[in-house]
Amino acid sequence: MKKIRVAVLYGGRSGEHEVALRSAASVINNLDRAKFEIVPIGIDKNGKWHLADPALLQQQTVSLPIYRNLPEVVLPSNPGGTETGVVALKPTDLASGGAGKASTAFDVVFPVMHGTNGEDGTVQGLLELAEVAYVGCGVLASAVGMDKDVAKRLIAAEGLPVVPSFCIRGSEWGAKKSTFAARAEKEFGYPCFVKPANSGSSVGVHKVKSAADFAPAVADALRYDTKVLVEKAISAREIELSVLENAKYGEAPLVSVAGEINPTHEFYSYEAKYLDENGMTMKIPADITKEQLTFAQDVARRAFTALECEGLARVDLFLDKNDGKIYFNEVNTMPGFTSISMYPKMWEASGVPYGELLTKLIELAIARKERRAALVRDFTQK
Ligand SMILES: Nc1ncnc2c1ncn2[C@@H]1O[C@H](COP(=O)(O)OP(=O)(O)OP(=O)(O)O)[C@@H](O)[C@H]1O
Ligand SMILES: [Mg+2]
Repeated sequence: MKKIRVAVLYGGRSGEHEVALRSAASVINNLDRAKFEIVPIGIDKNGKWHLADPALLQQQTVSLPIYRNLPEVVLPSNPGGTETGVVALKPTDLASGGAGKASTAFDVVFPVMHGTNGEDGTVQGLLELAEVAYVGCGVLASAVGMDKDVAKRLIAAEGLPVVPSFCIRGSEWGAKKSTFAARAEKEFGYPCFVKPANSGSSVGVHKVKSAADFAPAVADALRYDTKVLVEKAISAREIELSVLENAKYGEAPLVSVAGEINPTHEFYSYEAKYLDENGMTMKIPADITKEQLTFAQDVARRAFTALECEGLARVDLFLDKNDGKIYFNEVNTMPGFTSISMYPKMWEASGVPYGELLTKLIELAIARKERRAALVRDFTQK
């Protein structure tokens, strides 16, 4: 049987570039070589695309980045041509391919990128334009998942619990600082949380402990986004669940067992995530009651659907230590994907090994592409 060619797109112009390299190396190492042929494409920190040398993939264990001596991939592509492929993934650009060889085309893209320019709908939009199948959420869910304010509004409209919050836009901040400070104090008191609406890795997230700390926290968060959330602080246990689209189209998404992240820092900050190797401990399955698990799984499943997710997402919840209440916190449409990351680990604990998970994701991507291709786009013909 002909192997499915999977372009693994990794890196990206994002603060989470390095994390994405680690995720992509795991994905490449665990893709079933009997079924898939891998075309690695790295995006460097300047946003340049590089086609990696397939010879490097002969090694069983691939470490990234593999940019060396490789031709650049030039944007944008010419969709609708005879070959499937984003951009200038033309045969002539392949180190080993040689002109005219169709072997450089690929069947599906696996974008292994986190945060801005990778997980936020931008790359997904490019892939839509190029008419290629790709793993994971589409443009809408990726963009919504990235914007914590919009995501929370949709989740609240679905009737699911969210932590009370309000937004501050950069355009309003200068003139109304004291009004916002008074509102934060009145509605939430201290501590409260201040965070950029579109960010990740806890960059720009502040636990504000006093009125004096409020304005500097908002000003800092506004460095990363033009919209900032002010949120009630929850004394929270951090519970996460992995969600996978159902291969039976239209049926409820599948939800894993729950996992718990226990930061050893005051909250799950950037330092705790990336700088301190003892910054957190994880427990899978999370030590929660059966009722809490059922509720958390229901929230995760409904959140996935309410946010129009496809393929995969990790849904992060807060469990209030004081009263046991569970809140939706956020969704990650391309969660960390190293073999020790929560998303694949929670599936493993639910009976789906890493390699099998990757196969399912690719099959889902191809099935979606086929569904989309069947839609009518030309209204002139009867
Ligand atoms: N309202 C809150 N109450 C208590 N802790 C919070 C609250 N908001 C954020 N935190 C803490 O800050 C951490 C980071 O916040 P959040 O998950 O909202 O953003 P993020 O992790 O930067 O986003 P992403 O997961 O997309 O990278 C949380 O894991 C939690 O430890
Ligand atoms: Mg988070």
